Amino acid sequence: MKKKLKIGLVGFGVVGQGLYDVLQKSPALDAEIVKICVKNKRQRALPESMFCYSGEELVKDENINLVVELISDADAAFHIVAAALRNGKDVVSANKKMIAENLAELIKLQEEYGVSLLYEASACGSIPVIRNLEEYYDNDLLLSVTGILNGSSNYILSKIFEENKGYAESLKEAQELGFAEADPSFDVDGFDSLFKLVILTAHSFGTVVNPEEVLHYGISNISDFDIRFAREKGYKIKLVGQVEKLEENKISLFVLPRLVKKDKYIYNVEDEFNGVVIKGLAYDKQFMFGKGAGGYPTGSAVLSDITAIGHDYKYEYKKKNFYKEFLYVQSGEIEIYLRYRKDEDLAHFNFISISEEYTGPEYNYKIGLISIKELLAIKDHLREMDIFIAVTRKTLNY
Ligand SMILES: NC(=O)c1ccc[n+]([C@@H]2O[C@H](COP(=O)([O-])OP(=O)(O)OC[C@H]3O[C@@H](n4cnc5c(N)ncnc54)[C@H](OP(=O)(O)O)[C@@H]3O)[C@@H](O)[C@H]2O)c1
Repeated sequence: MKKKLKIGLVGFGVVGQGLYDVLQKSPALDAEIVKICVKNKRQRALPESMFCYSGEELVKDENINLVVELISDADAAFHIVAAALRNGKDVVSANKKMIAENLAELIKLQEEYGVSLLYEASACGSIPVIRNLEEYYDNDLLLSVTGILNGSSNYILSKIFEENKGYAESLKEAQELGFAEADPSFDVDGFDSLFKLVILTAHSFGTVVNPEEVLHYGISNISDFDIRFAREKGYKIKLVGQVEKLEENKISLFVLPRLVKKDKYIYNVEDEFNGVVIKGLAYDKQFMFGKGAGGYPTGSAVLSDITAIGHDYKYEYKKKNFYKEFLYVQSGEIEIYLRYRKDEDLAHFNFISISEEYTGPEYNYKIGLISIKELLAIKDHLREMDIFIAVTRKTLNY
């Protein structure tokens, strides 16, 4: 049954305006933007009468039955989204930080108030990965979900590896093109990928993981030495998030730069594109690829959620509600490349075994096995050290 949608749009930036334009090109959809809430009063492309400046006012508006939240502030977004759900309104959001940090509460609110919250655009922009994990991969054959989840850092790495550009120049370009968030650390230090991975994990294995408990490290410390090392060995460096099923209903997840060989699907994922490899028992590997950022690609995923709400679609959180619970564990080992300069930095890393090492005038490196738990214990200090870490060959022991 299709219902008429009266939309209260919160946020009219890159994605909000993208959605507005995409919606105009989809006349078949019986949806109308009734009001737009923004933060600051200024000249806009639409009449002033369309705008309001209070999210609370908008979620109470009885003419609105769907709130589409597309703002940059995660705390304000949670406030607005929770209030909308409590007011009996369905919600569509693209805010990965807000969703990942409040997922348990958001699931509860949906159940309590019988409303739907959809957020396809929050992970991998235009790629319909969440709904596929929820609906198609709704059995227990899934083994892992691995992907390039952040368009901006991938854009930067592409410029470095494909066009020999420097890190700072590539970051500036990504920001100018609107791929990178205002605070680049969100993208390049792996936070954005982490939030997306937490969301994908809930729909892959049903486990709601606290992002603060997950190992994540980005590309902001990459140096020419690391790039040369990767090139000489035939690798590209990619920022990769992965959740993997282990034995006895356990899962492991982390976001780390990875040395990727040509034979991997994600090797050829360039620029602002995202790519997700879904691995299962019976079907081996499947690959989803598409634009992960930008107003129109993200707007199209929001539009798809709006259409789904029109058909009364809700996430059932099937893995969480109908399968044996998967426990997130921080144990296991991975093989990493560690580039460092000072012995005092190296002292933080307690390698279990070392397979390759190099000492040079500029930098040194070691490749070896290390425990995930030990890396997790120092995760908040990794960015302060003059080091770079990338996963080489992953080996987990349980
Ligand atoms: N950009 C992308 O490619 C992309 C991709 C996937 C997901 N997302 C997610 O989509 C969301 C929006 O991103 P964006 O790039 O469109 O951001 P943006 O261009 O910075 O726009 C943010 C919008 O939110 C409004 N806003 C901020 N705080 C507000 C508040 N407290 N109350 C009401 N309005 C408020 C701003 O108002 P003013 O206009 O008055 O400043 C602006 O219109 C974020 O959660 C982001 O993570 C973005």
